[in-house]
Amino acid sequence: MELFDVYPLYDITPVKGDGCYVFDKAGNKYLDLYGGHAVISVGHSHPKYVEAIQAQVAKLGFYSNSIKNPLQQELADKLEEVAGVKDYRLFLCSSGAEANENALKVASFQTGKDRVIYFENAFHGRTSGVVAITDNEAIKAPFNKGHKATKLAFNNTEALKTEIEKGDVAAVIFEVIQGVGGLDEANAEFYKTAAELCKENNVILIADEVQSGYGRTGEFFAFQKHEIRPDIISIAKGMGNGFPIGGILIDNKIQPKYGMLGTTFGGNHLACAAGISVLDIIKDENLMDNVTEVSEFVKAEASKIQQIKKIKGRGLMIGLEFDFEIAALRKELLFEHKIFTGAASNKKLLRILPPLNIKKEHFETFFNALQKALKNQNKNTVVSG
Ligand SMILES: Cc1ncc(COP(=O)(O)O)c(C=O)c1O
Repeated sequence: MELFDVYPLYDITPVKGDGCYVFDKAGNKYLDLYGGHAVISVGHSHPKYVEAIQAQVAKLGFYSNSIKNPLQQELADKLEEVAGVKDYRLFLCSSGAEANENALKVASFQTGKDRVIYFENAFHGRTSGVVAITDNEAIKAPFNKGHKATKLAFNNTEALKTEIEKGDVAAVIFEVIQGVGGLDEANAEFYKTAAELCKENNVILIADEVQSGYGRTGEFFAFQKHEIRPDIISIAKGMGNGFPIGGILIDNKIQPKYGMLGTTFGGNHLACAAGISVLDIIKDENLMDNVTEVSEFVKAEASKIQQIKKIKGRGLMIGLEFDFEIAALRKELLFEHKIFTGAASNKKLLRILPPLNIKKEHFETFFNALQKALKNQNKNTVVSG
């Protein structure tokens, strides 16, 4: 049987990971500045993570949500402590899209309303409700277009006020720092006003921290910088370091009811073991401090490169915007210098999303390679131009 071909693939077959590196079947070693799309938080094959998963699967890998599973409570307690948030309840699922889908459902149940406000360049996932609130018409099927969703410009508080005051809005959802869309962040005033408007008008504020959360910005959640309190926070990606686990933190003011949400796989024993070990490692190895320190170094080095016009993002969620489209540069970094990086919908933006325990030395390697690749790109442009 053939695979249903929906992904353009690089001709690389990784077979092993170790810290900030992956190795392909030919034995080539790659520096991973992409983290498998912001997923690898504590590093590939971290020994404590491997041990925790192995020990759990040898005991009990899975049982359904119809029995008591103390690992879920342990995960919730650790998350509260490491994230520094209070008075939320945790619902566990298995992906970012599922987390956001559940967030929208809770918002609609809670308010009795059915319209959702999202923002230009947003990406919230590919399932029906969340693809409807993703700013990419090419990935919406006719079936997905039946939802009541309104797109607004990120940062436009006046437009937000006008829409919210119409009275039928259940939720406002944003990525505090946009991922796929290109690392844009609205100003502090916008987040504050959005939170106030939601509170005054019985609208649920959802922070999609699927990519920006779990320590990636140097704070546990990106919204914490803006001193707002979302009603629901969605998490996934870094939460399991590659093990499929996601969740939503739901403000205690929202009461759960049997049947309101549910899933077969969410919160299973193995997923919880992975999630608990990730939190332990983030805490024990002070990874959020490392993020802040390494981020400063990366930004300082990037600012010395003349072809970089803008440095975007926070922590280790960084966008380097060049004065040319970077597809060929990325390819050269990957195939000539064996460095994985990411792209964005902005074709001039190189995205950096490495494991959170990466060191400055790794970035020295990157900047040396980048300088060489830039010289090469320049040569090619001169020749072809
Ligand atoms: C901000 C954000 N939300 C949601 C998602 C969807 O997550 P998943 O692919 O796990 O469904 C992504 C994935 O890239 C994302 O970046």
